[in-house]
This record gives sequence, C-alpha cells and structure tokens, in this order.
Amino acid sequence: MKASSALPLLTAGLSLLVSSVSAAVRTYDFNVTWVNANPDGLHERQVVGINGQWPLPVIEVDKGDRIIVNMHNGLPDRNASIHFHGIFQNGSTEMDGPVMVTQCPVAPGGDITYNFTVDQNGTYWYHSHVDSQYPDGYRQALIVHDKTFPFDYDEDIFVTLSDWYHETIESIDPSFLSLYNPSGAEPIPDSFLFNDTQNSKIPVKPNTTYMLRIINIGAFVAQYFYIEGHNMTIVEVDGVYTEPTPADILYVHVAQRYTVLFTTKDTTDTNYAIVTVADSDLLDTIPPNLTLNHTNWLEYDSKAPFNEANITVDTSDDLDAFDDSTLIPYDHQELLPDPDYEITVNVSMNNLLNGINYAFFNNITYTAPKVPTLFTVMSANESVVEDDAIYGDFTHTFVLKHNEVVQLVVNNNDGGSHPFHLHGHTFQVLSRSPEYDDFTPFDPNNHTDFNDPPIRRDVLVAHPNGNFVIRFAANNPGVWLFHCHIEWHLFQGLALVLVEAPVQLQQTLQIPDDHYAVCDKVNVSSKGNAAGNSIDFFDLSGQNKQVPDLPNGFTARGIVALVFSCISAFLGMGAIVWYGLSDLSLSEVRMLEHIADDAGIEHEPIDPDDVSNHGGRDD
Ligand code: C2O
Repeated sequence: MKASSALPLLTAGLSLLVSSVSAAVRTYDFNVTWVNANPDGLHERQVVGINGQWPLPVIEVDKGDRIIVNMHNGLPDRNASIHFHGIFQNGSTEMDGPVMVTQCPVAPGGDITYNFTVDQNGTYWYHSHVDSQYPDGYRQALIVHDKTFPFDYDEDIFVTLSDWYHETIESIDPSFLSLYNPSGAEPIPDSFLFNDTQNSKIPVKPNTTYMLRIINIGAFVAQYFYIEGHNMTIVEVDGVYTEPTPADILYVHVAQRYTVLFTTKDTTDTNYAIVTVADSDLLDTIPPNLTLNHTNWLEYDSKAPFNEANITVDTSDDLDAFDDSTLIPYDHQELLPDPDYEITVNVSMNNLLNGINYAFFNNITYTAPKVPTLFTVMSANESVVEDDAIYGDFTHTFVLKHNEVVQLVVNNNDGGSHPFHLHGHTFQVLSRSPEYDDFTPFDPNNHTDFNDPPIRRDVLVAHPNGNFVIRFAANNPGVWLFHCHIEWHLFQGLALVLVEAPVQLQQTLQIPDDHYAVCDKVNVSSKGNAAGNSIDFFDLSGQNKQVPDLPNGFTARGIVALVFSCISAFLGMGAIVWYGLSDLSLSEVRMLEHIADDAGIEHEPIDPDDVSNHGGRDD
C-alpha cells in the first residue's frame, strides 16, 4: 500500500468528541446448544452453536462499552464456559472464563453471566475454556472498534482462519491422550476454514483502503497468509497498535491476531487470491487428502476472472514470513525496568507412569485443583494468601506482588513450536531466539540486546528448541493462566497460573452470587485451598496430583516399541482377542505405524484389512 495512507490522522478534536459519547451496554443472550454444520462441504457434524446458529455471532463493541453475556448451557451432555481472549478484565478477573482457574464449569442446564467493561481497542476473540471444547466450533471474533484509530482507512473487515476436525473433540481426546499415542502426536485436522467456510469471496471496491483484521481461531495449526498483488502494512498485533510496518507474508499462529491495511487497485478487470497455507511443520503426518493451501478471493468484479493462485510459500522454510518480534509499538512504550521477580520455565513433553504423553513447564504438568484458584484466593486468610503453597503442588502457581515487574523466560526443550498466551495482560517481547536443532535455553549472561521499545502482544510463538524472554508489570490483580494455545498441549498440561496481587484482589473483588451457584451445581467447593481444605490452608491432603514419573531408564521410545510390538503381534495373530485395542481406528494405527517408523522401530507392515476387521471407529 502507499505509505501516505498509513499516516496518523489522530486529532485532539476527534478524541474529545469520542470521549464525550457515553459508553453503551451490549447485552448478548447466548443459548449454547448442538447444531449441525458442514463448513468444508466434506462432512456434516455436530458443532457448538449459539441460539441455534453456527457460525457464532460476532461480538462487536466500542472501547468503554460494557459487555454482558448471559450464557445458558443448553448442551445436554457437557460443561461450558466463555473466555474473552485478550480482554484484560481489569477489576473483573472473575469474568475471564477458564474453568477451575477463575470459575467452575457451567453444567448442562446451568447459567452464568459475564459482565465487564472493555477498556481497550483492537482485535480479539471469544472461545470456550473448558475440556478442549472450542475446536468443536465454540469460538468467534470479538472486535472493539476504535473511533480514534490512528491510521487512515475506509473500510473495516475481518477474517478468521481455523483448522477443522470432522470428529468431536470428545471422540478424539481419548485416543490422543492415551497409551496408544505415546509420542503425543497431535490429531491431524481434516481441513482448514476461512471465515468458517471455504472458497469465499470478499467483495471489495477499487481505490479503497481496507483495515483487515486476521484472527486464527484454530486449535492447533498456524497459517501463512498473503494477498496476491497487494501489499500489506501491519498496524496492530493482539490489540496493540504498531508502527506501520510492511509485510509480504504473515505467519499467524493459533490465537494470534494481525490487523493490516491494504489499498485496492484502481481497476476491476481481475480478482485477486487471498492465500492461506497451513504450516505443515506442525503436522506429524500429512494425509494425502488434506489440503494445506487454500484460496479465497478479493472480489473486485464477480464477472472478472478468478485466476488460480500461484502459491509461493514453502512451509518447510518459514524464513519468508514476517518476524513479529521486530515490530515497534505505536505508543513506543519503553522496555520495563529490570525485573523484581523472574520465572524461568523449561518446556518439555514426556511420558508418565501410565505411558501417556504429557506436557510440562519444568517438571509440572498442570493438574486442575479441586477449588478454582480464584476462589482459593477469595476464601484464604490474608496471612496465607500470598503463599504459593496453598494453591497446590500441581497447578504450578506463582504469586506476584502488586505492580512488580515480572520477567518470564521460556526455554522450549521441544522440537515443535508453541504459541504461548498470557491471560490478563499483553507482555513486552524482549528477545526471541530462532529455531535450533538442539535445545538452546536463554543465557542471561550472554544474549543480544533486548528490544527497546519492545513489541507487546498476548500470544508469542516459541520456536523449536529455542527460547524467549517477556516482561510485564503486575498491575492487574487477578488470577491469570499462561499456557500453550495449541488446545492439545493445554490438554496435556502445558499451563501455569499467576496469582497476581491477591491481597488487593481480596480487598476489591466481589464475585457475584451466580458464579458461586455455578460451583454448587457441579458440586465443586468454592472455598478452601487447592485440595478443598478450608480449615488448614497448608493441608493439601487429597489434592489432585499428576501421574507419577516413569521409573528410571524407561523412555518414550521404549513405550512406543512396547505398544507397537503388542499391536503388531495382535495383528499378526489375526487378533481374535483384541483386548484394549478395540478402540483403535485405522487412522490411529496408521499414526502409530508412522511413529514407529520415525523412531526406527522394526515392525511388520500393517494390512488395513486386518484393522478394519476389528471394529475401529472410522472403519
Ligand atoms: Cu485464548 Cu487461555 O485462552
């Protein structure tokens, strides 16, 4: 786009005008139920709908507005919740939505009201935050329009990107987190969506500058994004305005948002492809019928040609994509001072004694407490509320003091990339390493200069075997989750909890009665420590615990070999007795075969007919 159209046009007069307009209350009544949908035209399935509809309603508000969502869980068979991703919930941490962190799960037939004001601009989304539910369709854009947006544009539009599964998460989860998936291979999506459909056309006018918000509302897979023949200028990431910065190709990981400006051509003689390419590096296998590249259209003229896109992204090499850590925030907020408190965590994925593959920060895989952590804060005596211990040994909770500067170092001891998200804040991105072949933790005594002013965002990708360093001020009393936004990895426990300024929280927060009623309905205690003990907060007997470690000498590879040789043996015998393997589908056996090949484990080739004789789910 032309640089001139990205010049700031903010004037004092305009902002005065806007601030004199009184804020609105936007009320949404959401009845959550199953509905059927077939967004990729390949498979109809049940999805989580709202008020009988899917795609879900977009929440669109102005800064300063109050959002009230009256949610009724009309799902007959599972719990529900809503998280408003990227909304700071300053003074309203109890409205944040993650189950067993700030609230109880809302039972079938139950109700909860989320009520908070939005004091920020930009591009957000909302999604369920219970039991890996959002990939079942329970996610949609949340947009805060800014009447004082500092850049010149004509039209404000958005697109969502998403991976998509044909099975419900409930039917995928048991085989994902199971002994038969010892390497923790993530379920491979069945397709990819663009605005919850495919092959869509976005009508555009010539000679017009568009503000285009791009939101990855997927569960797992990052996507590359570009528009043929059009230059993009980044102006926002995750609700933070940036110095206008040109980018050819965006890399949008799950939960990330980018807003770009682009200006349309002055002619309408052809239409232009919007190209998305799923990052195949994240996939353990690429099924032959999975299409990674998709084309949607900027439609200048429905009668003009739609020429096939010439797709240039090679997903095995992501060097082309824009590096978000180099962005400059529009407000130039400088690097926060040296930290008062520093947390360093190593990310790993490993098997525990039950053979299942879990994900860890240091040696802890997040295990939900018996009382939501916020309710522990609110029911604890002031003399114990700042002690990490009362929050349990397996929730990985850190207590932060009000207004201290917190530095979080993440060392990724895993060969995959992880999009890490912090609730309640954006954070400054001080440094981020590239991808490495071998684990390379951050070295505090030998590192490049920190970015200054650093970009801020709320989801940052850690590259394979690399590291990043982020900082924020603990100026938002609340209970905030920090986790990998790949829903499979959250399910595997890749999360920790920050209890921020609990004394201030106790003094200022009043949790509404209906949130207590939500706990009563599911028989979850709303007082006590992580174990539900409200007499002695240091007595954690009965707390939920993670599975014990494997004995020394056992390796993940050993488990793969063991499981695989059992399966091969059963298949080889003609498998009259199928034992616990009867729930394996052909695709799962294929996955195991692939894992075994990768690990160099010898085995008999598997005949699909053998498997299909044995009652697998997708036979
Ligand atoms: Cu999009 Cu824990 O959040």
